[in-house]
Amino acid sequence: MKKLVILISGRGSNMEAIVRACAVQRWPARVAAVVSNRPDAAGLTFAAAHAVVTSVVDHTQFNKRDEFDAALMRVVDMYEPDLVILAGFMRVLTPAFIKHYAARIMNVHPSLLPSFTGLHTHQRALDAGVVVHGATVHFVTTELDYGPIIAQGVVPVLVGDTNIVLSKRVLQLEHKLYPRAVRWFVEDRLRMYDNRVELEVTETRFLFCLDVV
Ligand code: GAR
Repeated sequence: MKKLVILISGRGSNMEAIVRACAVQRWPARVAAVVSNRPDAAGLTFAAAHAVVTSVVDHTQFNKRDEFDAALMRVVDMYEPDLVILAGFMRVLTPAFIKHYAARIMNVHPSLLPSFTGLHTHQRALDAGVVVHGATVHFVTTELDYGPIIAQGVVPVLVGDTNIVLSKRVLQLEHKLYPRAVRWFVEDRLRMYDNRVELEVTETRFLFCLDVV
């Protein structure tokens, strides 16, 4: 039974999708804790209501990033995670934190990496005039938004799309993509070769989501 710790900063809809998939699909795993850096993160309410242990490490209580990360690491380690899942966790983590969880820390990013790393990905995609956009699940490395890619999903950019409409479409895609990638980890089906990820047994690492249009 693998132990999952999910880090959130706000709404937590990806966390919710993972908690639900873990229960409904009966993964050989359990969500050991949901940890937020913000006490008012809405996702904490969902987690508590679903009998998931919650914890808060409030980043505003720390003067330095490495002090916050050290405190966060102490809390996360209490739950002995096999996998740390960043789900809308909006703090940049220090190399010390990331190295501590090397090859067992994942993130979902709202773009087709390596395009649009960082923030405001949907508006930047619209401004760039791309016709497809999407989301990427990747292992986290010390280089921001550049870790080995586990899965990617694509949605179309449609005429008249706004930042809000496009972000909703991508979020629906993330809710399918992220639980799938976590399940692969839980099932021990991900292998890393030279900074690239391969999946044992044929199942596509690509999702084309016309059904979320
Ligand atoms: C998601 O769109 C996720 O991809 C993004 O924040 C949102 C969180 O939503 N993450 C990042 O931008 C990380 N760089 P959620 O709280 O409802 O899961």
